[in-house]
Amino acid sequence: MPSEESASVSAALPALIRRAIARDGGWLPFDRFMAMALYAPGLGYYARDSRQFGRLPGSGSDFVTAPELSPLFGRALARQLAQALDASGTDTLWEFGAGSGALALSLLDTLGERVGRYHIVDVSGALRARQHETLRRHASRVQWLDALPETMQGVVIGNEVLDAMPVQLLHFDGRQWLERGVTASGEGFAWRDRPTALRPPHDGPFVPGTVTELHAQALAFIATIAERLARGAAFFVDYGFPAAEYYHPQRRGGTLMCHRAHLADADPLIDVGDKDITAHVDFTGIALAGQDAGLEVLGYTTQARFLMNCGFLDMLAGAGPAVIADAQKLLNEHEMGELFKVIGFAKGCAPTFVEAPIGFTAGDRTHTL
Ligand SMILES: C[S@@+](CC[C@H](N)C(=O)[O-])C[C@H]1O[C@@H](n2cnc3c(N)ncnc32)[C@H](O)[C@@H]1O
Repeated sequence: MPSEESASVSAALPALIRRAIARDGGWLPFDRFMAMALYAPGLGYYARDSRQFGRLPGSGSDFVTAPELSPLFGRALARQLAQALDASGTDTLWEFGAGSGALALSLLDTLGERVGRYHIVDVSGALRARQHETLRRHASRVQWLDALPETMQGVVIGNEVLDAMPVQLLHFDGRQWLERGVTASGEGFAWRDRPTALRPPHDGPFVPGTVTELHAQALAFIATIAERLARGAAFFVDYGFPAAEYYHPQRRGGTLMCHRAHLADADPLIDVGDKDITAHVDFTGIALAGQDAGLEVLGYTTQARFLMNCGFLDMLAGAGPAVIADAQKLLNEHEMGELFKVIGFAKGCAPTFVEAPIGFTAGDRTHTL
């Protein structure tokens, strides 16, 4: 049963969103609704001191991510990051959306003194407190930043950060494209569509009734990284596909998804603030946004391929059955191995690295983007 305090926090967020809807004439575009539901200070899903990440619902968690599942994820990734640090001549890592701090811990443990500074940028203040706790041992090297500096040098990493960025929703009714937004309805919320000039970044064809997403915020984020990165590399791991697959007629319902207690549902308008809202990543859009803003695409492949290229299987030598079972979830096609992808970018790095980045040695799928 929810405590009185948690019930009042749960009620405060819908009330805040309803005021925003009223201020905007009765309609809020979905990206603004999602931004408030996830990040409204002190109230949004990621802005509260709750336990989002964990292995099982019993811990009160809602979903598990690769670094939470196994420290071997960070250990394998570290091989790619070490190569990138050498190629860019820096000792600085930048992690975006560090969650509980599990990936940072694994990377700092594995890379040791090779990392002089570990910068964390996370929009959630509540998670920052948790990251402090996780990274106590490495406190002297970790720095939290509220805003990006004008220029950055180093290697950027983001695991499941792009999928957490607010998306716009588009609906094709068979005749025209509409932007899907949110309106107040009784005590809750309801969908309402409006004609729009927005279009998917792909020609289709689209079947009547299609609902899909646009990722303006994620693309702007990549462009900002590209512009500010003077020299270095960037790697993003997330679930998603190239645009042709993302905007395929068979994916007519889009990819918007909510997660709570390790169960998924497709209705972000109920239990607002109590569950995660995500959308898959359009990796073609991400690659183009980076390229247009001055980054070179190093490679694009599945998480399984990337980890194996980084020596993941060697790391399992001598491991016990529990470690192997978790590791397999990172590689299995029907779990995280195929749906999750890794994209790498570089700027101003040695050609020997750009031509042969470890993680993309075999199975590079850049040609599918
Ligand atoms: C799904 S969680 C992933 C956490 C962690 N990387 C992991 O894999 O366990 C998304 C994270 O991204 C953060 N986030 C979302 N948008 C962000 C942005 N624009 N800049 C930095 N962090 C962001 C959230 O606060 C949260 O920590």
